[in-house]
Amino acid sequence: METKYLIFYPSDVMKHSFPKHSLTIWLSITGLCLVLFFVFTAEQQLPSLKKVFIKDFYVGVAVNQGQMAGYLPSDVALVKKQFDSVSPENVLKWSRVQPKPHTFNFGPADKYVKFGMKNDMFIIGHNLVWHKQVPDWVFKNDDGKPVSREVLLKRMKYHIDKVVGRYKGKINGWDVVNEALTEQGKLRDTKWLKIIGSDYIEKAFEYAHKADPDAQLYYNDFNLWKPAKREGVIRLVKELQKKGIRIDGIGMQGHWYLHKPSDDQIEASIQAFSKLGVKVMISELDISVLPIPKDHDNPPPSIRHSRDPALNPYANGLPDSVKNALATRYASLFRLFEKHKDAITRVTFWGLNDKETWRNNWPVIGRKDYPLLFNRYNQPKEAFYSVVETSGK
Ligand code: G3I
Repeated sequence: METKYLIFYPSDVMKHSFPKHSLTIWLSITGLCLVLFFVFTAEQQLPSLKKVFIKDFYVGVAVNQGQMAGYLPSDVALVKKQFDSVSPENVLKWSRVQPKPHTFNFGPADKYVKFGMKNDMFIIGHNLVWHKQVPDWVFKNDDGKPVSREVLLKRMKYHIDKVVGRYKGKINGWDVVNEALTEQGKLRDTKWLKIIGSDYIEKAFEYAHKADPDAQLYYNDFNLWKPAKREGVIRLVKELQKKGIRIDGIGMQGHWYLHKPSDDQIEASIQAFSKLGVKVMISELDISVLPIPKDHDNPPPSIRHSRDPALNPYANGLPDSVKNALATRYASLFRLFEKHKDAITRVTFWGLNDKETWRNNWPVIGRKDYPLLFNRYNQPKEAFYSVVETSGK
């Protein structure tokens, strides 16, 4: 009788020794411990991308300034668990590092490099010479007129010496020149090209090599699956190789869509680039699930600021059908990357989760996109598991 009473009416027993509010506290603490236990266990059991693909290629992620400053501790924990390579989303770009002549801001970049070193990661420098995120003063004299070729080369060399030199032996590979080609595979009409001439690319590679002879040096661009652009890169790499200038790899950015480009188009470029004897990297991977507006590579203001709901169909959540389509697309891409694992040395996601991704603001500002493997709360998506499942298959 006594036992039955204890089993069926524990709270009645407890109320002799605990006041009522203590019981509530006790139950809350127990509940909290159970929740924490399950969260911790689930977290422990989550596969790690870097471990899953350890024999194939580095799995990298672009990190932002807030993450490296420690404002987003759960992001940082996820980065450490999942990735063995990092890229700086913005902090190493010219406008951030040398916003004014001879005035350097290395604070955020130092934090980034320190983080990568502390966690034993393959650290990428992004980037040295680009037509975007480079201040106007670089190309102008004090009187506002364009600088001469000699002055611009001097400024380029000075910047590269300072930045690459500072992280010599720490940053493992540099995107030396970024997005220098048009969709037709010709040299893009930038101030670098106009003022220096077509040899600005080789000069950038030469300066970077001098500044850190052990660092790997890459050419990085988007839409490299397009045949004309692919041919442009091949010409560029062959030209550098003919002149004996070091180039180690090509970064195919990988800002793709659910149904575009096709795996075959991507594969053709991976094969063509690897034939050049350089490494191939998928350097900025993300898959937008949103409608593709016209002129999406160069959107006019009417598209940039569009509030058309048809362009932002998943503002209230992603339907299962699209979640599954994203998972299928990612699985298919990773099967392709593994097929070419002898050529591909790194696959880097451009951002950690769907909250931080730049694609929420490009080509249309303020949309809700879902391009990565982790959702807005850092939880793994169907696409994460579909990628993990491809390993070793
Ligand atoms: O930090 C400022 C903030 O203070 C300000 O309030 C806000 C207002 O616009 O802007 C913030 O800066 C933005 C920055 O991202 C950080 O979020 C810039 O406006 C915005 O232009 C910048 O965009 C970056 C873009 O490069 C610039 O071209 C993206 O984050 C970055 O993901 C993107 O990365 C590029 C690669 O470097 C090269 N390949 C393409 C890729 C995607 O565009």
